[in-house]
Amino acid sequence: MEIESFQALLTDEGQTLLAELRDFKPGEELALATRLRRKHPAELVSAALAQAALRQRARAKFGSADRQHSGEDTDADALYFTPNGVEQATRRSVAEWRAERFAALGVRRLADLCCGIGGDAIALARAGIAVLAVDRDPLTCAVAEANAAALGLAELIEVRCADVTDVDVTGFDAVFTDPARRTSRGRVFDPEAYSPPLSWAIGAARRTPFGALKVAPGIPHELVPEGAEAEWVSDHGDVKEAGLWFGTKADKATEPHRATLLPGPHTLTGGRLPDPEAGPVGRYLYEPDGAVIRAHLVAEVAEQVGGRLIDPMIAYLTSDLLVPTPYAHAYELTDVLPFNVKKLKALLRERGVGTVVIKKRGIGITPEDLRRQLKPTGPNTVTVIISRVGDGHIMMLGQPVG
Ligand SMILES: C[S@@+](CC[C@H](N)C(=O)[O-])C[C@H]1O[C@@H](n2cnc3c(N)ncnc32)[C@H](O)[C@@H]1O
Repeated sequence: MEIESFQALLTDEGQTLLAELRDFKPGEELALATRLRRKHPAELVSAALAQAALRQRARAKFGSADRQHSGEDTDADALYFTPNGVEQATRRSVAEWRAERFAALGVRRLADLCCGIGGDAIALARAGIAVLAVDRDPLTCAVAEANAAALGLAELIEVRCADVTDVDVTGFDAVFTDPARRTSRGRVFDPEAYSPPLSWAIGAARRTPFGALKVAPGIPHELVPEGAEAEWVSDHGDVKEAGLWFGTKADKATEPHRATLLPGPHTLTGGRLPDPEAGPVGRYLYEPDGAVIRAHLVAEVAEQVGGRLIDPMIAYLTSDLLVPTPYAHAYELTDVLPFNVKKLKALLRERGVGTVVIKKRGIGITPEDLRRQLKPTGPNTVTVIISRVGDGHIMMLGQPVG
């Protein structure tokens, strides 16, 4: 996308076209383009069609916290995107959580280094924080600027097109960096290959009273530096990102890890308890949220539910007590047996089970393959949890609680 074709979308004619294309259906492009080209320049029609498609893709990310799954009434229909921008932007719920944390720390002025199309900058400005939003890509900057204006946040967001390494952050309360973790060749796994590299972003976060940066959820814990707090964030059970925070006073010496589950938010801190003991499977099985597992806070959840691991290497907890917790899904078990497909098939048939929810850990089967083998039929539903325990595998049948 060229800057000129993007800017043409901001004209009255561009806006009319975007409004007309708001809910176009996949497959209609050709007919729509032919019809619209009779009245509008071909280049503008192509840019509007591409933008309308990006907005539709962005609806899942840019809904409000409670609406993003419905796909209705979202920021996405007011914002502008680039293909990379929509891919790399922080989803609204997570950006709002981060902004809330910065605001609670008293941050009023923040440098958003690597702002992209403005996913984070928008949430920060909505939390009342004045943002200097920096990106080195001119088209991305034009899009970020248009986004600030589209949401009435231009007063709070100043967009600067520059390399972040040239930006002076003196006088800011905080720096936030969201490095690019993709190149034209795909995803980058080495944090020193991020742009800018992780070590640079850590240095930048330490230059102001508060600092944060976004990293991949798979970041090895050894890479969390001294003086930093690491937070893993999930949204509706999917782990979305990890963040390193500086200046929050939570660090390796106190409570180094945090798991935040959205919506909620539910925040669990800790990281200093020893691993829970392993023991026999009890009446309830607890499946900790992915953010809890990534943050190594399973022991904290075990303590809450009076639980033990079913195996030292597997992140399923078990207990004879039912203790409600937002940090794990609980299942009441009816059967615990050695894993055997034939036996499972017979059990499901006997119980008239047509819907099987399959969960698994420590075993190389896919739920789809297993479901095909089971061919379940009947009116009832069951959850089957298959796990490695010791040298073998077990299957646990039950129902979700709560
Ligand atoms: C992951 S995206 C940021 C997404 C953003 N937080 C959001 O929610 O929309 C990373 C951005 O960093 C920019 N970038 C990478 N290296 C940079 C550098 N050295 N200076 C300025 N911008 C850079 C890229 O152009 C890209 O837009």
